[in-house]
Amino acid sequence: MDQPSINNIVLEVSGLKKSFGDFHILSGANLELREKENIVILGHSGTGKSVLFKCIVRLIEPDAGDINVLGENILALKDEKLTELRIKIGYVFQGGALYDSMSVRDNLEFPLKHTKGPGRSQAELNELVEEALSNVGLIKSIDKMPSELSGGMMKRIGLARTLIQKPNILLYDEPTTGLDPVTSGEISELILKVQEDYNTSSLIISHDIKCIEITANQVRVLKEGKFEAGGTLDEMKHHEDPFVNSFFK
Ligand SMILES: Nc1ncnc2c1ncn2[C@@H]1O[C@H](COP(=O)(O)OP(=O)(O)OP(=O)(O)O)[C@@H](O)[C@H]1O
Ligand SMILES: [Mg+2]
Repeated sequence: MDQPSINNIVLEVSGLKKSFGDFHILSGANLELREKENIVILGHSGTGKSVLFKCIVRLIEPDAGDINVLGENILALKDEKLTELRIKIGYVFQGGALYDSMSVRDNLEFPLKHTKGPGRSQAELNELVEEALSNVGLIKSIDKMPSELSGGMMKRIGLARTLIQKPNILLYDEPTTGLDPVTSGEISELILKVQEDYNTSSLIISHDIKCIEITANQVRVLKEGKFEAGGTLDEMKHHEDPFVNSFFK
């Protein structure tokens, strides 16, 4: 991926700390994400990558630090203001996080009906659902149930359900884990296409080298609760710290 020119910062995490009991998970993490940038986050299992995402959308409350989203301090917001800002952050969960008992169509309509926003007619809802499904190449699956979908399809539908809210920032938690290399490549290309079509910026937690090669403008390595190193994929591959370049061996 090419490097974007210097764009505005859309997400800034500073001095973020989070502990669970005696376990210090994040211990002063700093990160900046700019418009149209895709940053891949690397780190060993259990280092706090998913905790970081959950703090950003406030599914988990951090102990200290600041998180600025699109110019607003998300940690200071409450109620409606918090909901409004959260809608601008699309969280793509690892397994797609679909409701098993609902069809694909109902899964996609759900966030539109249950978050505050303009009251929409059924015709408008249909249009939004169909547009999001077309954008991930799965319009034919609109009436399927999640149990009828493959892992790759579920990830696409999970992405469509996030896109329907037209977020500015996307958080992808291991978008290609568990997929075969071909499907993983397709999902990675889809992440790029989404960035172009929707003008989003993304944080992507991934260890999949193909996904990183396709999507990353920048790579950041989380170690012992902080971002230790950062740069382009090429810089990270040749980094002097063996811990950093070990991710690429
Ligand atoms: N709600 C919670 N309560 C207590 N401990 C938690 C909670 N959420 C996460 N943890 C702990 O925080 C640590 C970091 O978890 P996290 O899920 O962020 O890891 P990760 O870097 O995403 O790992 P993986 O690559 O395996 O997904 C783990 O030790 C986990 O057990
Ligand atoms: Mg995780």
